[in-house]
Amino acid sequence: DRLPALLRTMPKAELHIHIEGSLEPELIFKLAQRNGVALSYPSVEALRAAYAFTDLQSFLDIYYAGASVLLKEQDFFDMAWAYLEKAAAENVVHTEIFFDPQTHTARGVPMQTVILGLHHACQRAHQELGLSAKLILCFLRHLSEEDALATLEAALPWREYFIGVGLDSSERGHPPEKFARVFARAGELGLHRVAHAGEEGPPAYVTSALDVLKVERIDHGVRSVEDPALMDRLAAERMPLTVCPLSNLKLCGVKDLADHQLPQLLSHGLVAMLNSDDPAYFGGYLNANYLACFEAMPALGAKQAYMLARNSFEASFVSAAQRAQWQ
Ligand code: HPA
Ligand code: ZN
Repeated sequence: DRLPALLRTMPKAELHIHIEGSLEPELIFKLAQRNGVALSYPSVEALRAAYAFTDLQSFLDIYYAGASVLLKEQDFFDMAWAYLEKAAAENVVHTEIFFDPQTHTARGVPMQTVILGLHHACQRAHQELGLSAKLILCFLRHLSEEDALATLEAALPWREYFIGVGLDSSERGHPPEKFARVFARAGELGLHRVAHAGEEGPPAYVTSALDVLKVERIDHGVRSVEDPALMDRLAAERMPLTVCPLSNLKLCGVKDLADHQLPQLLSHGLVAMLNSDDPAYFGGYLNANYLACFEAMPALGAKQAYMLARNSFEASFVSAAQRAQWQ
Protein backbone atom coordinates (compact mmCIF):
# COMPACT_ATOMS: atom_id res chain seq x y z
CA ASP A 1 0.00 0.00 0.00
CA ARG A 2 1.74 3.11 -1.27
CA LEU A 3 -0.87 5.54 0.05
CA PRO A 4 1.04 6.52 3.23
CA ALA A 5 4.12 7.30 1.11
CA LEU A 6 1.99 9.43 -1.22
CA LEU A 7 0.48 11.31 1.71
CA ARG A 8 3.89 12.03 3.21
CA THR A 9 5.67 13.03 0.03
CA MET A 10 3.09 15.00 -1.94
CA PRO A 11 3.65 18.78 -1.87
CA LYS A 12 0.96 20.55 0.15
CA ALA A 13 0.07 23.83 1.81
CA GLU A 14 -0.85 24.29 5.46
CA LEU A 15 -3.39 27.06 6.08
CA HIS A 16 -4.48 26.57 9.69
CA ILE A 17 -1.64 26.40 12.20
CA HIS A 18 -1.44 28.55 15.35
CA ILE A 19 2.26 29.14 15.91
CA GLU A 20 1.72 29.22 19.70
CA GLY A 21 0.17 25.76 19.30
CA SER A 22 3.42 24.43 17.81
CA LEU A 23 5.29 25.11 21.06
CA GLU A 24 6.42 21.67 22.25
CA PRO A 25 6.68 20.97 26.01
CA GLU A 26 10.48 20.63 25.72
CA LEU A 27 10.76 24.13 24.24
CA ILE A 28 8.31 25.51 26.85
CA PHE A 29 10.65 24.27 29.59
CA LYS A 30 13.77 25.50 27.80
CA LEU A 31 12.29 29.00 27.35
CA ALA A 32 10.94 29.06 30.92
CA GLN A 33 14.47 28.40 32.17
CA ARG A 34 16.08 30.88 29.77
CA ASN A 35 13.63 33.62 30.82
CA GLY A 36 13.24 32.80 34.50
CA VAL A 37 9.52 32.16 34.13
CA ALA A 38 7.90 29.86 36.73
CA LEU A 39 5.72 27.04 35.37
CA SER A 40 3.01 25.31 37.38
CA TYR A 41 4.15 21.88 36.09
CA PRO A 42 7.26 20.19 37.56
CA SER A 43 8.40 18.45 34.34
CA VAL A 44 7.93 18.00 30.61
CA GLU A 45 6.15 14.71 31.35
CA ALA A 46 3.77 16.33 33.86
CA LEU A 47 2.93 19.07 31.35
CA ARG A 48 2.32 16.59 28.55
CA ALA A 49 0.15 14.50 30.89
CA ALA A 50 -2.09 17.57 31.37
CA TYR A 51 -2.93 17.52 27.63
CA ALA A 52 -6.23 15.71 28.16
CA PHE A 53 -8.90 18.05 26.88
CA THR A 54 -12.68 17.90 27.09
CA ASP A 55 -13.55 20.88 24.89
CA LEU A 56 -12.03 23.99 23.28
CA GLN A 57 -11.84 26.01 26.51
CA SER A 58 -10.02 23.27 28.45
CA PHE A 59 -7.36 23.39 25.72
CA LEU A 60 -7.19 27.19 25.48
CA ASP A 61 -6.47 27.52 29.23
CA ILE A 62 -3.32 25.38 28.97
CA TYR A 63 -2.36 26.83 25.55
CA TYR A 64 -2.27 30.38 26.95
CA ALA A 65 -0.30 29.14 30.00
CA GLY A 66 2.28 27.55 27.67
CA ALA A 67 2.65 30.78 25.68
CA SER A 68 3.60 32.70 28.86
CA VAL A 69 7.26 31.66 28.45
CA LEU A 70 7.60 33.72 25.24
CA LEU A 71 9.24 37.05 26.05
CA LYS A 72 12.07 37.90 23.64
CA GLU A 73 12.30 38.16 19.85
CA GLN A 74 14.58 35.11 19.88
CA ASP A 75 11.85 33.08 21.65
CA PHE A 76 9.34 33.83 18.88
CA PHE A 77 11.99 33.04 16.28
CA ASP A 78 12.90 29.73 17.92
CA MET A 79 9.26 28.65 18.19
CA ALA A 80 8.51 29.45 14.54
CA TRP A 81 11.78 27.98 13.26
CA ALA A 82 11.07 24.66 14.99
CA TYR A 83 7.67 24.49 13.25
CA LEU A 84 9.04 25.53 9.86
CA GLU A 85 11.76 22.85 9.91
CA LYS A 86 9.14 20.19 10.70
CA ALA A 87 6.80 21.51 8.00
CA ALA A 88 9.55 21.46 5.36
CA ALA A 89 10.43 17.87 6.33
CA GLU A 90 6.77 16.93 5.72
CA ASN A 91 6.78 18.40 2.20
CA VAL A 92 4.76 21.46 3.15
CA VAL A 93 5.83 23.97 0.49
CA HIS A 94 3.66 26.88 1.64
CA THR A 95 2.26 27.75 5.06
CA GLU A 96 0.02 30.55 6.34
CA ILE A 97 0.70 30.87 10.06
CA PHE A 98 -1.69 32.30 12.66
CA PHE A 99 -0.32 34.26 15.58
CA ASP A 100 -2.15 35.73 18.60
CA PRO A 101 -0.50 39.09 19.43
CA GLN A 102 -2.91 39.87 22.27
CA THR A 103 -1.70 36.81 24.20
CA HIS A 104 1.71 38.49 24.31
CA THR A 105 1.03 42.23 24.36
CA ALA A 106 -1.27 41.69 27.37
CA ARG A 107 1.83 40.41 29.23
CA GLY A 108 3.86 43.47 28.26
CA VAL A 109 5.66 41.96 25.26
CA PRO A 110 5.98 44.63 22.55
CA MET A 111 4.18 44.03 19.22
CA GLN A 112 7.51 44.48 17.43
CA THR A 113 9.10 41.62 19.40
CA VAL A 114 6.33 39.23 18.36
CA ILE A 115 6.15 40.18 14.69
CA LEU A 116 9.88 40.52 14.02
CA GLY A 117 10.72 37.20 15.68
CA LEU A 118 8.13 35.37 13.59
CA HIS A 119 8.96 37.30 10.42
CA HIS A 120 12.67 36.54 10.61
CA ALA A 121 11.91 32.83 10.94
CA CYS A 122 9.65 33.00 7.85
CA GLN A 123 12.35 34.85 5.93
CA ARG A 124 14.98 32.26 6.85
CA ALA A 125 12.61 29.40 5.92
CA HIS A 126 12.30 30.87 2.46
CA GLN A 127 16.08 31.19 2.08
CA GLU A 128 17.23 27.94 3.71
CA LEU A 129 14.32 25.52 3.37
CA GLY A 130 12.67 26.75 0.17
CA LEU A 131 9.48 27.01 2.19
CA SER A 132 7.09 29.89 1.57
CA ALA A 133 5.69 31.14 4.92
CA LYS A 134 3.25 34.01 5.55
CA LEU A 135 1.72 35.38 8.76
CA ILE A 136 -1.95 35.98 9.65
CA LEU A 137 -2.71 38.12 12.70
CA CYS A 138 -5.55 36.69 14.79
CA PHE A 139 -7.85 38.55 17.17
CA LEU A 140 -8.91 36.78 20.37
CA ARG A 141 -12.70 36.69 20.27
CA HIS A 142 -13.12 36.42 24.06
CA LEU A 143 -11.72 39.99 24.25
CA SER A 144 -13.54 43.13 23.10
CA GLU A 145 -13.70 44.53 19.58
CA GLU A 146 -12.03 47.72 20.93
CA ASP A 147 -9.05 45.59 21.98
CA ALA A 148 -8.97 43.99 18.51
CA LEU A 149 -9.09 47.42 16.82
CA ALA A 150 -6.24 48.69 19.00
CA THR A 151 -4.25 45.54 18.23
CA LEU A 152 -4.66 46.02 14.48
CA GLU A 153 -3.55 49.66 14.71
CA ALA A 154 -0.57 48.69 16.89
CA ALA A 155 0.54 46.17 14.23
CA LEU A 156 0.36 48.61 11.29
CA PRO A 157 4.05 49.66 11.44
CA TRP A 158 4.70 46.02 10.36
CA ARG A 159 1.81 45.89 7.89
CA GLU A 160 3.96 44.33 5.15
CA TYR A 161 4.89 41.40 7.42
CA PHE A 162 1.40 39.87 7.59
CA ILE A 163 -1.06 39.07 4.82
CA GLY A 164 -4.34 38.90 6.69
CA VAL A 165 -6.37 38.76 9.86
CA GLY A 166 -8.18 35.90 11.57
CA LEU A 167 -10.45 35.30 14.54
CA ASP A 168 -9.79 32.60 17.14
CA SER A 169 -10.16 31.58 20.82
CA SER A 170 -13.46 30.78 22.59
CA GLU A 171 -16.14 30.56 19.91
CA ARG A 172 -19.39 30.01 21.79
CA GLY A 173 -20.94 33.27 22.96
CA HIS A 174 -18.58 35.31 20.77
CA PRO A 175 -20.28 35.44 17.34
CA PRO A 176 -18.61 36.96 14.27
CA GLU A 177 -20.91 40.03 14.47
CA LYS A 178 -18.94 41.19 17.51
CA PHE A 179 -15.97 41.90 15.17
CA ALA A 180 -17.75 43.55 12.21
CA ARG A 181 -15.89 46.88 12.48
CA VAL A 182 -12.38 45.51 12.87
CA PHE A 183 -12.85 43.16 9.91
CA ALA A 184 -14.18 46.08 7.82
CA ARG A 185 -11.06 48.04 8.78
CA ALA A 186 -8.84 45.09 7.81
CA GLY A 187 -10.61 44.99 4.45
CA GLU A 188 -9.89 48.71 3.89
CA LEU A 189 -6.22 47.97 4.59
CA GLY A 190 -6.19 45.31 1.87
CA LEU A 191 -5.73 42.45 4.30
CA HIS A 192 -7.11 38.97 3.69
CA ARG A 193 -9.83 37.90 6.11
CA VAL A 194 -10.48 34.48 7.67
CA ALA A 195 -12.30 33.38 10.84
CA HIS A 196 -12.79 30.30 12.97
CA ALA A 197 -16.47 29.36 12.72
CA GLY A 198 -18.49 26.20 13.13
CA GLU A 199 -15.83 24.48 15.25
CA GLU A 200 -17.89 24.40 18.47
CA GLY A 201 -20.26 27.17 17.43
CA PRO A 202 -23.39 26.67 15.32
CA PRO A 203 -23.62 26.81 11.51
CA ALA A 204 -25.18 30.29 11.89
CA TYR A 205 -21.69 31.53 12.91
CA VAL A 206 -20.35 30.28 9.57
CA THR A 207 -23.06 32.21 7.74
CA SER A 208 -22.34 35.42 9.67
CA ALA A 209 -18.58 35.05 9.17
CA LEU A 210 -19.34 35.06 5.42
CA ASP A 211 -21.99 37.80 5.40
CA VAL A 212 -20.74 40.14 8.14
CA LEU A 213 -16.96 39.61 8.22
CA LYS A 214 -16.63 38.93 4.45
CA VAL A 215 -14.12 36.16 5.05
CA GLU A 216 -12.36 34.35 2.20
CA ARG A 217 -11.98 31.09 4.15
CA ILE A 218 -13.69 29.45 7.10
CA ASP A 219 -11.41 27.88 9.71
CA HIS A 220 -12.81 24.49 10.82
CA GLY A 221 -16.41 24.96 9.63
CA VAL A 222 -17.17 21.31 10.25
CA ARG A 223 -20.57 22.01 11.88
CA SER A 224 -21.71 23.34 8.48
CA VAL A 225 -22.85 19.77 7.76
CA GLU A 226 -25.83 20.46 10.07
CA ASP A 227 -27.22 23.03 7.61
CA PRO A 228 -27.88 21.64 4.09
CA ALA A 229 -28.49 25.09 2.56
CA LEU A 230 -25.17 26.31 3.96
CA MET A 231 -23.41 23.25 2.52
CA ASP A 232 -24.84 24.06 -0.92
CA ARG A 233 -23.72 27.69 -0.57
CA LEU A 234 -20.16 26.75 0.49
CA ALA A 235 -19.89 24.42 -2.51
CA ALA A 236 -21.34 26.97 -4.96
CA GLU A 237 -19.01 29.74 -3.74
CA ARG A 238 -16.00 27.41 -3.57
CA MET A 239 -15.52 28.73 -0.04
CA PRO A 240 -12.59 26.88 1.53
CA LEU A 241 -12.82 25.12 4.90
CA THR A 242 -9.52 24.63 6.74
CA VAL A 243 -10.31 21.33 8.46
CA CYS A 244 -8.26 20.07 11.44
CA PRO A 245 -9.24 16.45 12.19
CA LEU A 246 -6.85 15.61 15.07
CA SER A 247 -7.87 18.89 16.73
CA ASN A 248 -11.57 18.00 16.49
CA LEU A 249 -10.79 14.57 17.93
CA LYS A 250 -8.69 15.88 20.86
CA LEU A 251 -11.23 18.61 21.70
CA CYS A 252 -14.05 16.04 21.62
CA GLY A 253 -15.86 17.53 18.62
CA VAL A 254 -16.02 13.93 17.36
CA LYS A 255 -15.75 10.72 19.41
CA ASP A 256 -13.77 8.90 16.76
CA LEU A 257 -12.02 9.98 13.55
CA ALA A 258 -14.30 7.56 11.70
CA ASP A 259 -17.19 9.88 12.66
CA HIS A 260 -15.47 13.00 11.30
CA GLN A 261 -17.30 15.25 8.80
CA LEU A 262 -14.39 15.30 6.27
CA PRO A 263 -15.74 12.63 3.86
CA GLN A 264 -19.12 14.39 3.83
CA LEU A 265 -17.52 17.78 3.09
CA LEU A 266 -15.51 16.32 0.19
CA SER A 267 -18.40 14.37 -1.30
CA HIS A 268 -20.48 17.56 -1.23
CA GLY A 269 -17.79 19.21 -3.39
CA LEU A 270 -16.43 21.58 -0.76
CA VAL A 271 -12.90 22.99 -0.99
CA ALA A 272 -11.66 21.34 2.20
CA MET A 273 -8.09 20.46 3.11
CA LEU A 274 -6.23 19.16 6.15
CA ASN A 275 -4.33 21.19 8.75
CA SER A 276 -2.71 20.61 12.14
CA ASP A 277 -4.20 23.57 14.14
CA ASP A 278 -2.07 23.16 17.32
CA PRO A 279 0.26 20.25 16.52
CA ALA A 280 2.19 20.25 19.82
CA TYR A 281 -1.08 19.78 21.71
CA PHE A 282 -3.16 17.56 19.43
CA GLY A 283 -0.83 14.65 18.76
CA GLY A 284 0.75 15.46 15.44
CA TYR A 285 1.81 17.70 12.59
CA LEU A 286 0.24 17.84 9.13
CA ASN A 287 1.25 14.40 7.87
CA ALA A 288 -0.04 12.79 11.08
CA ASN A 289 -3.42 14.35 10.26
CA TYR A 290 -3.31 12.93 6.73
CA LEU A 291 -2.23 9.46 7.88
CA ALA A 292 -4.80 9.25 10.70
CA CYS A 293 -7.68 10.29 8.43
CA PHE A 294 -6.78 7.93 5.60
CA GLU A 295 -6.42 5.13 8.12
CA ALA A 296 -9.80 5.82 9.78
CA MET A 297 -11.95 6.79 6.78
CA PRO A 298 -12.60 4.11 4.15
CA ALA A 299 -13.95 6.72 1.70
CA LEU A 300 -10.46 8.26 1.35
CA GLY A 301 -8.01 7.03 -1.28
CA ALA A 302 -5.43 8.42 -3.71
CA LYS A 303 -8.04 10.52 -5.53
CA GLN A 304 -8.99 12.28 -2.28
CA ALA A 305 -5.32 12.74 -1.37
CA TYR A 306 -4.67 14.67 -4.58
CA MET A 307 -7.92 16.59 -4.08
CA LEU A 308 -6.94 17.68 -0.56
CA ALA A 309 -3.50 18.82 -1.71
CA ARG A 310 -5.00 20.67 -4.68
CA ASN A 311 -7.57 22.32 -2.42
CA SER A 312 -4.80 23.45 -0.07
CA PHE A 313 -3.19 25.40 -2.92
CA GLU A 314 -6.45 26.73 -4.33
CA ALA A 315 -7.46 28.03 -0.88
CA SER A 316 -4.08 29.66 -0.19
CA PHE A 317 -3.42 33.37 -0.60
CA VAL A 318 -0.64 32.94 -3.14
CA SER A 319 -0.82 33.98 -6.77
CA ALA A 320 -1.83 31.55 -9.51
CA ALA A 321 1.71 31.89 -10.92
CA GLN A 322 3.24 30.81 -7.62
CA ARG A 323 0.75 27.91 -7.31
CA ALA A 324 1.70 26.67 -10.77
CA GLN A 325 5.23 25.97 -9.47
CA TRP A 326 3.94 23.54 -6.87
CA GLN A 327 1.16 21.71 -8.68
N1 HPA B 1 -10.00 27.19 18.00
C1 HPA B 1 -10.08 28.42 18.49
N2 HPA B 1 -9.03 29.07 18.93
C2 HPA B 1 -7.83 28.50 18.86
C3 HPA B 1 -7.69 27.23 18.35
C4 HPA B 1 -8.83 26.55 17.88
O1 HPA B 1 -8.81 25.40 17.40
N3 HPA B 1 -6.37 26.94 18.43
C5 HPA B 1 -5.75 28.01 18.95
N4 HPA B 1 -6.63 28.96 19.23
ZN1 ZN C 1 -7.48 26.97 14.98
